Amino acid sequence: APPKLAAGNWKMNGTLQSLAELDALPTAPGVEVLICPPALLVQPMAGRAAGRIMVGGQDCHAAASGAHTGDIAAAQLKDAGASHVIVGHSERRSDHGETDAAVMAKAAAAHQAGLVAIICVGETEAQRDSGETLSVIAGQLAASVPDCATAANTVIAYEPVWAIGTGRTPSAAQIAEVHDAMRQALCARFADGAEISLLYGGSVKPANAAEIFAIPHVNGALVGGASLKAADFGPIISAL
Ligand code: 13P
Repeated sequence: APPKLAAGNWKMNGTLQSLAELDALPTAPGVEVLICPPALLVQPMAGRAAGRIMVGGQDCHAAASGAHTGDIAAAQLKDAGASHVIVGHSERRSDHGETDAAVMAKAAAAHQAGLVAIICVGETEAQRDSGETLSVIAGQLAASVPDCATAANTVIAYEPVWAIGTGRTPSAAQIAEVHDAMRQALCARFADGAEISLLYGGSVKPANAAEIFAIPHVNGALVGGASLKAADFGPIISAL
């Protein structure tokens, strides 16, 4: 079975003081815990987490180095102690105009640097309302996941755009439908597609985590707001 992963995305939140939350996080047997803080906190978090918690970036540039003011290379995240990097989050896709092709290039750069790429996909509310969800997800997977993806270097996160930060989640049947389709698509394309971890993200909280983790082909969660405090993220880790 794919590894179980509880991943936190702190987005643009947190300061050095916030690292104290790490000390109160539980561990659970067979569950990997990852936090992706703002880039400035990657190195101090990696020091403080000391092997108990993995640390990741929230974005990387597609190039290995060079004249890209304000950007961060995958190898620099690795150098700072990161093991993972999120690419193609819907906030990057919308705030920074990242296309599927750009996301694929970033994922390939992450792999090149020895990082696990957490590649995000998800439909908008309008796309769901018009019955396009499965075709949107299939298209994003085909165009955002590079050919070099393996179960060892890639995690896929299904994050419906309308469920992010809204307190709304799809029904269990809706999540199951998408995760089943993603599993089929990955198995059709990759030899080890059955072993790629599939995360659900979007308004995951202690109150709904157990129900979401019981859905077939849900191997963990990518948690935003509820990953900021150990009092919320802890019970989510324990539920997985
Ligand atoms: P929320 O958990 O705050 O809805 O955010 C989800 C998300 O975007 C994680 O990447």
